[in-house]
Amino acid sequence: MGLQNEKIAALSFVTADLNYLTPSVDRPRTYTFEPPSGQPKSNIVPDAHSLPIYDIRLISETVSLDREGFALVRQTSSVKDFYNDDEIKAVYYPEAERLIKAATGADRVFIFDHTVRKRVEGAEDRAGNLLRQPVARVHVDHTAKSGPQRVRDLIPDEAEELLKGRVQIINIWRPIRGPLLDSPLAVCDARTVHANELVASDLVYPNRVGETYSVKYNPEHQWFYVPRMTVDEALLLKCYDSATDGRSRFAPHTAFADPTTPADAPPRESIELRTLVFHK
Ligand code: OGA
Ligand code: FE
Repeated sequence: MGLQNEKIAALSFVTADLNYLTPSVDRPRTYTFEPPSGQPKSNIVPDAHSLPIYDIRLISETVSLDREGFALVRQTSSVKDFYNDDEIKAVYYPEAERLIKAATGADRVFIFDHTVRKRVEGAEDRAGNLLRQPVARVHVDHTAKSGPQRVRDLIPDEAEELLKGRVQIINIWRPIRGPLLDSPLAVCDARTVHANELVASDLVYPNRVGETYSVKYNPEHQWFYVPRMTVDEALLLKCYDSATDGRSRFAPHTAFADPTTPADAPPRESIELRTLVFHK
């Protein structure tokens, strides 16, 4: 159950195509690099649905990580150059840690990667490309299995102890040039997504296989975005939660082509950061 009809009817929206997973008997598999010969880069057949994507702003005070699975926060970063990895680690990581602690009350935050994206017309996304591309495919970065697995991979010595407490994986996503008009990020109210619509999928890296969720379409899904998102705003996205008490665990998201984008809009530039969040 998401927002009630009368509430959602009061919000403005754009209509855009969102690429879901076409149901198939084959396990979805996508390579992040040139696949072995004869293998497709991905066996996922997109299932595009033209859907309303509602303006978050009127309800941003009330949306929360534990209900909808995402939150919109204001935070001004001191980072001068988001294309400088050293500066990101020295300046943005500690800012992000403070932000996540304030938003969740967590005891410990472990930041394990970041991705800077800049859209280039016609470019394909590939890890290792200097310019990573927006991901126009509905997904969740982690699953019930790969969430705890990331803790074991990244903090092996303490994993078993940490996994006794509540563990979340939360992404922080923001434009690095704003207001963002091109290829915004849409987020789905996790309460409107059912377990049988989340399909465990392999994401094959050169040295490991990650598990993500692809998502099957359901007309109940409610989608949101932040129109003209600024560099002083950040979206927090829940990509895993060990809690199974009704709090949201997985918030699907995807980039989309906004039909209202002006032709001369600068291409999207964004950064997302992935964090393990621990509660005692
Ligand atoms: C993410 C994500 C895609 C994009 O932040 O997890 O899926 O287009 N980003 O920015
Ligand atoms: Fe993602």
